[in-house]
Amino acid sequence: MRLRSGPMQGEKCHVTKESLMSMPTIDDAAKVLADPNSYTDETGLHAALARLRAKAPIARVEVPDYRPFWAVTKHADILAVERANRLFTNWPRPVLMTAASDDMGAAAGIRTLIHMDDPQHRVVRAIAADWFSPKAMKAMGDRIEQLAKQYVDRMREAGGECDFVSEVAVNFPLYVIMSLLGVPESDFPRMLKLTQELVGNDDDELRRSASSDETMNALLDMFGYFQHLTATWRETPTGDLGSTIANARIDGEPLSDIDTMSYYAIIATAGHDTTSSSIAGGLHALIEHPEQREMLSADPDLIPLATEEIIRWVTPVKAFMRTAAEDTTLGGVPIAAGDSLLLSYVSANRDEEAFTDPFRFDIEREPNKHVAFGFGVHFCLGAGLARMEISKFLAELLPRLKSIELNGEPRLSATTFVGGLKHLPIRYSLI
Ligand code: HEM
Repeated sequence: MRLRSGPMQGEKCHVTKESLMSMPTIDDAAKVLADPNSYTDETGLHAALARLRAKAPIARVEVPDYRPFWAVTKHADILAVERANRLFTNWPRPVLMTAASDDMGAAAGIRTLIHMDDPQHRVVRAIAADWFSPKAMKAMGDRIEQLAKQYVDRMREAGGECDFVSEVAVNFPLYVIMSLLGVPESDFPRMLKLTQELVGNDDDELRRSASSDETMNALLDMFGYFQHLTATWRETPTGDLGSTIANARIDGEPLSDIDTMSYYAIIATAGHDTTSSSIAGGLHALIEHPEQREMLSADPDLIPLATEEIIRWVTPVKAFMRTAAEDTTLGGVPIAAGDSLLLSYVSANRDEEAFTDPFRFDIEREPNKHVAFGFGVHFCLGAGLARMEISKFLAELLPRLKSIELNGEPRLSATTFVGGLKHLPIRYSLI
């Protein structure tokens, strides 16, 4: 009943010479990056990515339904692209989607932080930045601790068995981010459904239907919902992040309706599935590596390092994209103006040249220069919040955990963007 996300501790990388040789071609290896289902089989995925890093670290990918792109799989190349943010822009294609979804997004005029470049990006990011500063995080510490305790209590009430994803992992970060935005608690279930439909739209179990129209409908539903809240926040400002966005001014003007809605949507979606996937994937890794779990329980001072390793290990944001503003070269490969590049964070975080023994889950790993939060000007705005949620949850759970094991098969969601475990059945005993 193991879902392997790499070799067991102490083993060398499971990507053997034989498995590399049995991979069909570089072309086929690169195509896994545009196939949501490939992310449900981590062994196959990592074999393909290791082959790309070794043989074609910047590989051209041409698959039906998608516009072509270059797959960038080495840690150093990804940093180089993200450093050169004038040459490699976020606009117009920050995320890998089908050509039909790309066109629909452009037609709807959706522009979030991840679609923007400087100088506009800097100004718009500054609107919410204070909410995620170290000072703001410190102020939220007690509240997040209380919530973590509430969810561990809930595990105890569940009587020793649960699907950790649906009963704990998806709810705790949703509760945090919706409370921060100022969404009424009675609407949290609706937001849970909408954020999952938006970011998990490649997975049969999570999406509304197979069509990109339905993804757009989920987005329109979210916009419709927030339109009503915006009017309320503008009439009566509150001390919530949502109200800050609703009442923000740039050069004296409020944000347009579409920009305001896009801002809520990016915070709601970015702040939710990412963290819940990390918490679930982290617990799974600690179940599979009991000696690491014992070490962490014995020494809670290791929680910050363990949190960082969990985020590297899980890498819930699989990739982001950039587009070349002019003709250039990357790693000796000519890139034409207008070409898009997919930055595979999943691959970079297992890059043998960036990490010692990258397939080893090591809660003491230091340094740990993973790129799970991206790098450069678009570095995750909520990184501090995500770290705090994961750390507080571990700090609450571990001292109360007497035993834990799998109670069924963990299952990963099909996605090329954000995701991780969609089921983690566990059996446990808590004090
Ligand atoms: C951007 C990862 C949690 C808000 C990003 C990016 C990544 C990322 C990879 C984009 C970098 C790029 O452009 O390449 C993660 C991971 C998380 C997490 C792994 C959890 C473990 C959060 C949370 C929030 C958040 C809790 C809270 C609101 C954002 C926002 C952006 C962003 C607003 C856009 C920043 C910009 O474009 O300037 N995140 N994120 N994220 N994240 Fe997170």
